Amino acid sequence: MSKRLPHLFALTLTLSAASIALAADQEAGRRKAEAVCAACHGANGISVSDTIPNLAGQKPRYLETQLAALKDGRRKSEIMNPIAGQLSAADIADVAAHFAGQPGAVSTAKSAMLPNLVKSSVSFPEGYQGTYTKYHTINFPATKQVRHYLANPTAVQAAKAGQPMPNGAMLFVEVYSARLDADQKPVLGADGFFVADKLLFYTSMARDAGWGKDIPEILRNDEWNYAVFTTGKQQRAGVNQAECLACHKPLDKVSYLFTLKQLTDAAKSRY
Ligand code: HEC
Ligand code: HEC
Repeated sequence: MSKRLPHLFALTLTLSAASIALAADQEAGRRKAEAVCAACHGANGISVSDTIPNLAGQKPRYLETQLAALKDGRRKSEIMNPIAGQLSAADIADVAAHFAGQPGAVSTAKSAMLPNLVKSSVSFPEGYQGTYTKYHTINFPATKQVRHYLANPTAVQAAKAGQPMPNGAMLFVEVYSARLDADQKPVLGADGFFVADKLLFYTSMARDAGWGKDIPEILRNDEWNYAVFTTGKQQRAGVNQAECLACHKPLDKVSYLFTLKQLTDAAKSRY
């Protein structure tokens, strides 16, 4: 009997070593959460907006299975797929342990956005109409909007030369409501696009040296920053660049642009 005791003792030691390792993982999960997930879910798992779920106090196993499904694409989310895709199995276990360990909150609670992701270096391109090239238009039937896509000369030159977008490039989108007919249906112009009615706002992306440095690697789009501008030419407050960055992130092979092909075709045919 006494011969077996040391053996049991060794087993106990192994188990407590395992729980120490688990605690360390939760700490790694906290660091990852603070640097990346906090931009949307809050470091404590209480999210920053009504369109983003809380993770605080969620079952760890549920968090892990969702992250695994978001990583391999069985669960679709334009924002979460690129983020989960960059997490290792160990990262997933770590962040799940972290968020599961956070206290829940009432549904109206909100975390603040991360200042480094709210801050955008993009400024309004005063007088852009004189120098920018309009290269694309898209109808948005669901929202009864039409968007006009413009590029500055730096972006047009790079596209024409088949080069990646360099620092100084800017893409700028005018978002209009569509003119509606008596049945509240968008009126089509001769070009097949909705006739623009009122300018609603602008969205933009631009890059310059050092603009990516405060953005965590999982979200960073090289040196690109994003901004939304009001018709009064001011940056719209409360825009979470983390969402722009996450959705454009998979496009690293095409300078993070969804419309690079359209820009390239326009640049080559017109100049
Ligand atoms: C840019 C914003 C953003 C960032 C950053 C972000 N998430 Fe998400 N996350 C979302 C959104 C939006 C959803 C809802 C996705 C959907 O509609 O299916 C979501 C969903 C989830 C879910 C599923 C929740 C559920 O209730 O099913 C998990 C788990 C999750 N995120 C974990 C993480 C982790 C871990 C990180 C950091 C590594 C992270 N997220 C970073 C925006 C973000
Ligand atoms: C859910 C995915 C998604 C999110 C989030 C997103 N974008 Fe985009 N973005 C797109 C798609 C798709 C296009 C292609 C044209 C379109 O649908 O307008 C696009 C196009 C653009 C363009 C034109 C240049 C290009 O890439 O083709 C700009 C500028 C832009 N987005 C800015 C923003 C800004 C600013 C934000 C954040 C406030 C943002 N985007 C968030 C998906 C997204």
